[in-house]
Amino acid sequence: MIDTHAHLQDEMIKDYKKTITDANDAGVSKIVCASSNLENSKRAVDIANEIACVYATVGIHPEDANSYNSDSIMQLKQLAKNKKVVAIGEIGLDYYHEFASRDLQKEVFIKQIELANDLKLPVVLHTRDASGDMIEILRKYKNKLSCGVCIHCFNMSLEILKEILNYGFYISIGGIVTFSNAKNVIEIVKNCDINRLMLETDTPYLSPVPLRGTINEPKNVVFSAKRIAEILNISLNEIDEITTKNANRFFNFNR
Ligand code: NI
Repeated sequence: MIDTHAHLQDEMIKDYKKTITDANDAGVSKIVCASSNLENSKRAVDIANEIACVYATVGIHPEDANSYNSDSIMQLKQLAKNKKVVAIGEIGLDYYHEFASRDLQKEVFIKQIELANDLKLPVVLHTRDASGDMIEILRKYKNKLSCGVCIHCFNMSLEILKEILNYGFYISIGGIVTFSNAKNVIEIVKNCDINRLMLETDTPYLSPVPLRGTINEPKNVVFSAKRIAEILNISLNEIDEITTKNANRFFNFNR
């Protein structure tokens, strides 16, 4: 199994080496370490350089948009030269927290879409309470997103799901699918093309049932995988095989 979205560099993860070994022992073969600002992008690249099964994304999250300055794109570009950087992310819009103004979030998001296009890298998207502006930007910039888009923790409408699948985009699903109030995410799983679905944990957040309230880890990806297998009425092995194939295709790990 591949955990396509884990913040291994988060301070809540006290011993990342043990966390990674525990994941390997539980059958997780690769982990994509997701970033949210320049500092933890550097940290993600360091961990990926150190540990073979870890890959990194680099990028500035909308919650960190205030940290963006005229140097940021150059610095991200420098980091992305590393072979183990497999995507720009997580980038996008967050109108739930709105730590930065909507205009600034959009500017920082679009600048990084252009960066991904220059570098021929896919992007990992974060979006919360911003569906309208998000889909508008994706429509407008889809030609600059031809190396791939994965919307992580996808929780938008079925109409938007249909539209982004038409664009060739992917989604990743994590612990939320195990929650008892996960009606929308369950419908999303049922309506998604299985060849565009990937697994994630969003470590250290969003621990799945029955581990809610604990610090999440990549080894817990199996709980979401089991729940998805149950929803789709197929075996856990099939989910493992298909989502692993999808992640290998999307991230092109051996670039
Ligand atoms: Ni995340």
